Amino acid sequence: VAIEKGNYRHFMQKEIFEQPTVVAQTLSSYIRQVTQSVTLPQMDFDLGQVNRITVVACGTSYYAGMVAKYWIETFARIPVDIDVASEFRYRDPVLEPGGLALFISQSGETADTLAALKHCKANGQTIAVVVNVPTSTMAREADLLLPTHAGPEIGVASTKAFTCQLAVLAALAARLAVLRGRMDRAEETEVVRHLVETPACLNAALAHDDEIAQMAHLIAPARDVLYLGRGPDFPLALEGALKLKEISYIHAEGYASGEMKHGPIALIDDAVPVIVLAPSGPLFEKTVSNMQEVRARGGKVVLISDAEGIAEAGEGCMATIEMPKVHPLIAPLVYAVPVQLLAYHVACVKGTDVDQPRNLAKSVTVE
Ligand code: G6P
Repeated sequence: VAIEKGNYRHFMQKEIFEQPTVVAQTLSSYIRQVTQSVTLPQMDFDLGQVNRITVVACGTSYYAGMVAKYWIETFARIPVDIDVASEFRYRDPVLEPGGLALFISQSGETADTLAALKHCKANGQTIAVVVNVPTSTMAREADLLLPTHAGPEIGVASTKAFTCQLAVLAALAARLAVLRGRMDRAEETEVVRHLVETPACLNAALAHDDEIAQMAHLIAPARDVLYLGRGPDFPLALEGALKLKEISYIHAEGYASGEMKHGPIALIDDAVPVIVLAPSGPLFEKTVSNMQEVRARGGKVVLISDAEGIAEAGEGCMATIEMPKVHPLIAPLVYAVPVQLLAYHVACVKGTDVDQPRNLAKSVTVE
């Protein structure tokens, strides 16, 4: 069946707008409504006995893995190592018995990720795979297959596969926490409640499309753009920068908010827009003080936060984008939307080939 763009200008735009539906679709196979619990597909090993997790992926899938590290360590208290696949084997990683190796891939065919999978298999690791193509090579190699139900993704820059990966990884983190006795029934029910709210929150984020399209005119003339985030939103800053450089060809860097003063602050002047991803909460104050450091140097800030955060720190920003107030577990899914839309609209302003950016491939099958 040919996949059509329908009323959308680009596949990427269509795929961004499909997210509430495909995330709901994905979550429905990881949530038991009746018991309000998180569930995973069948496996032939004891997930509760896993004592260490090694995450390996490339590109956008790697950033989903970085978010998962925060979640798994916070909720399940299992140590997580993470590498980009092209580096993994070459550092001769320590792989001990009882380890779970987790691979994340939209295509299930990325050569570096596949080579890392084979290396882990040969070194006695149990293999878990989060993959969007159920017939892919990686899917066949898995001891635990965790499918995303994003449907075919045509745009080279990944969008809906990423949020579906996050949905699966949130469920995995919660399940691990339950198995390790780190999450009781009440907490699990609470997590399920928040996961179920995610599609509505994604819709609320998508409602800012027009506003972000306007804002894109402020960003399009820039030569460099900086993205800042802290905690699980730091990988989102990396993902925002990746999206922008992939499709608009503007140089962009994602940085941990607190690390900016150790380098990128030297770049700040009134020509460098700084996109700050900062949901209100325990990490907010620190990030705001990093934002003030940018402003004190003439930097132009776009603050992406919720109403509370914007009321507190929005004044003096070049622009703000108000996200719904969400649980920290789903913030990375929801905050993915404005960075995707911003990259998309900046690329449209610049007139680049959004769905087929130069030099990039949808699936990279060479090492
Ligand atoms: C390519 C694509 C990216 C993708 C990466 C990993 O670089 O252009 O969008 O994130 O490969 O692909 P995978 O299929 O393994 O997730």
